[in-house]
Amino acid sequence: MDRLIIRGGKPLKGEVEISGAKNAALPIMTASILTSGENTITKVPDLKDVKIMGALLSNLGIKFRHHNGIVVIDSSEIKNFEAPYELVKTMRASVLVLGPMLARYGRAKVSLPGGCAIGARPINMHLMGLEKMGARIKLDSGYVIAKANRLKGASIYFDTPTVTGTENLMMAAVLAKGTTILENAAREPEIIDLANCLISMGARIKGAGEGIIEIQGTDELKPIRKYEIIPDRIEAGTFMTIAGITRGDLLLKGCRREHLDALMIKLEDTGIAFKETKTGIRVTANNRPSAKDIRTMPHPGFPTDMQAQFMALMSIAKGTSIIKETVFENRFMHVAELRRIGADISIEGNTATVKGVEKLKGAPVMATDLRASASLVVAALCAEGESTIHRIYHLDRGYERMDEKLRQVGADIERVTS
Ligand code: EPZ
Repeated sequence: MDRLIIRGGKPLKGEVEISGAKNAALPIMTASILTSGENTITKVPDLKDVKIMGALLSNLGIKFRHHNGIVVIDSSEIKNFEAPYELVKTMRASVLVLGPMLARYGRAKVSLPGGCAIGARPINMHLMGLEKMGARIKLDSGYVIAKANRLKGASIYFDTPTVTGTENLMMAAVLAKGTTILENAAREPEIIDLANCLISMGARIKGAGEGIIEIQGTDELKPIRKYEIIPDRIEAGTFMTIAGITRGDLLLKGCRREHLDALMIKLEDTGIAFKETKTGIRVTANNRPSAKDIRTMPHPGFPTDMQAQFMALMSIAKGTSIIKETVFENRFMHVAELRRIGADISIEGNTATVKGVEKLKGAPVMATDLRASASLVVAALCAEGESTIHRIYHLDRGYERMDEKLRQVGADIERVTS
């Protein structure tokens, strides 16, 4: 397994190209199931999760290729309607084939994703919505077995906003008979990107990005024509915390303020400065950050996917920061590892108290999940001496060429393949 060796303490300066958003690319790739013909999607990042989604689509008999950021998917014929456990267990977003397969073919057999490091992450709301649209759902030996003649429009209320639940049901609804209303829908920018892509295929969707989405079903959709994925706001946010913790000066090319308001306001409160330019956002920090409290919330609140990276920044802040994780029940796996690098953090339920220390000290640490591994990189880039981050396959799931991008702005970082 690969590991990263980082010698911290240097201010990072220069330009970083922000890649396309993983969490927009994955649902948009499954949207190709809704059409027959050749779909082209651009600015798709070269990530492990994209490879797994490609393998899943190929396993259905769909033709898939990914080269230089361009994905071409020909879903003219599906030979198999099963998303097997071997693939789904490695990537929960595989569940996103359920809605489109039911919408287009009226059948699907998808392994239940099971829990993961950050929580149980059930899909009950996905299934509730599909049943309301007329699907017959059976759970058997760890699989969801779903059948439907033709899905019909329905009014669906989510007890709590679910990103992939909203995406699955939006894709189910675009080919359903009649109108579907999604209430208390997720409002993330990736939802808007999927809706814009579906609209480019001929779907009739109103309200994406707001709490209520209305979808009028149509009989068929055109293939995706050169749809460009939005930039990855979580990658951009991660590099913002890196500029903050190394007292650096980074120009993040391609990212957009409107995707990151809550995070940027909080980072500004800690003392980090932003300047919007024609090509992106410039981030500078000259002093030790001031401690600020956060509470993660569904968009437009503070993103849970930035909680671990923000915690790393707060570990060397002036003062004490209170961090509440309200979206997932177990998203503090990075705390034990940050403590090894010298952070002073205590946990009580879903609340972490971070007492800022003057200095962090490099140490060997273990990545446990995607954003936890990002927080270890953030901390190691500031820690004195050498840190080794093991199991960085977690990082490769969601960050394209991160070690290369960091080296280009002056980081002393080395990837060791064993
Ligand atoms: C998406 O996961 C993202 N993944 C996650 O990013 C992100 O952390 C999460 O949204 C929250 O923003 C992708 O988009 C591929 P949810 P998702 O359904 O859709 C509960 C990353 O780092 N829930 O919005 O699985 C659930 O347990 C990943 O890139 C139910 O109870 O998250 C959680 O507590 C990690 N029943 C909350 O809702 C359901 O049917 C929000 O989950 C669905 C969800």
